Amino acid sequence: MPVEAVRWAEGELVIIDQTLLPTEYREIRLATLESVWEAIRVLRVRGAPAIGVCAAFGVLVGVREKRPTSAPDAVRAVEETVNYLATSRPTAVNLFWALERMKKVAEGLAADGSLKDFWHRLEAEAIEICEDDKRRCRAIGDHGAGLIQDGNGVLTHCNAGALATAGSGTALAVMFRAKELGKQFCVFADETRPLLQGARLTAWELMQAGIDVTLICDNTAAQVMREGKVQLVVVGADRIAANGDTANKIGTYSVAVLAKAHGVPFYVAAPYSTVDATLPDGAGIPIERRSAHEVTHGFGRQTAPDNVNVYSPAFDVTPAEFIAGIITEKGVLRPPFAKSLAAHA
Ligand code: MRU
Repeated sequence: MPVEAVRWAEGELVIIDQTLLPTEYREIRLATLESVWEAIRVLRVRGAPAIGVCAAFGVLVGVREKRPTSAPDAVRAVEETVNYLATSRPTAVNLFWALERMKKVAEGLAADGSLKDFWHRLEAEAIEICEDDKRRCRAIGDHGAGLIQDGNGVLTHCNAGALATAGSGTALAVMFRAKELGKQFCVFADETRPLLQGARLTAWELMQAGIDVTLICDNTAAQVMREGKVQLVVVGADRIAANGDTANKIGTYSVAVLAKAHGVPFYVAAPYSTVDATLPDGAGIPIERRSAHEVTHGFGRQTAPDNVNVYSPAFDVTPAEFIAGIITEKGVLRPPFAKSLAAHA
C-alpha cells in the first residue's frame, strides 16, 4: 500500500496534509478536536472513507480533550464530539456512518463500565473502522480489476485512491490491483477543478505506483473519448442512494454523460459504508457548497474579477441510469441497483 492517509499511532491521530501535495509530503498530528474539524473542513484529509476514519479517531481526540470523570460523563463527551464533527462536511455519508458507530458503542457502555474500559472499547471501535476500510478497499480492488483489459484506457475523476481511504482506495484500488496482476493499461486523470484533486493527488499516486497516467484538463474528457482512448471510466463516490444515484466530486455527472454519449461503460467504486439506504434516490443528498475564493483565487493567484458571482457545489449526482456497475467489497453490482444494492447489504 503506497501511503497511509490517516492512522492512529500509539494514541495520536496522524494524517498526511493533502493540501500540500504533490510538492510537499508532510504528516501532521491532530491533537485537538478543533484541529480535526478544521483538517476535514479544509481538505487536509479528504475522500469519503478517509473522512469517516479520521472522524472516528477524532472522537477519541475529542473525548480525551473533555477529560470525563465518569462513564456517563464520557457518553456525553462522545455525543458532543460526534455532533460537532458532523458539522465539518455534509455530503460524504461515511462521516456520519463512522460517527454513528462510535456513538452506538458509547451508548452501549453507558451505565456501568469503568472509564478505562470505556476508553479501550471506544479506541477498539475506531481502530476496527480503520481496519475494516482497509479490507473493503482490498476487496474492491479484487472485484474491479477484472474490468480492466490489456490495452485499455481508464478515465477517472477527482481522487479515490489511498489518499481518500485508510487502505488502497476505491477507484484507484481497482487500478492498483490490475497493475499487480500484470495488466497493461493507461489512465487519464481529470485535473478536477477547482481544488485539483486529480492533478495533485491522483496523478501523484498513480505515478508512485508506476501506472501510466496522463493528466488532462476536465474539459478534455470528451475529446479523449472521441479519439477512442478510453474504454472505461471508474470513479469513487461520496454517497450512493438506494436506487444507485451517486454523489461524487463535481464534474462526475458530466463525465458520465460523456461516457454514455461515447458508448463507454461508467463504473462507480465504493464500499457499502458509502451507501445511504435511507435515501430512495439522489434528490435528497445534501450537496456541499464551497467558497468563491477557491474558484477565484485557486492556489495563490487571482484568476477572476473582484466580486464576481460564483457558484461552487463540491459534488454532483450522477443518475443511476448512467452507471454500468457499482464495484463494492461484495462484488460488481449491476442495474437495477435498487435490487442489487439491497440484496448484498
Ligand atoms: O472533496 P473531496 O476531495 O473530499 O472529494 C472526494 C471525492 O469526490 C471522491 O471521489 C470520493 O470521496 C470517493 S473517495 C474513495
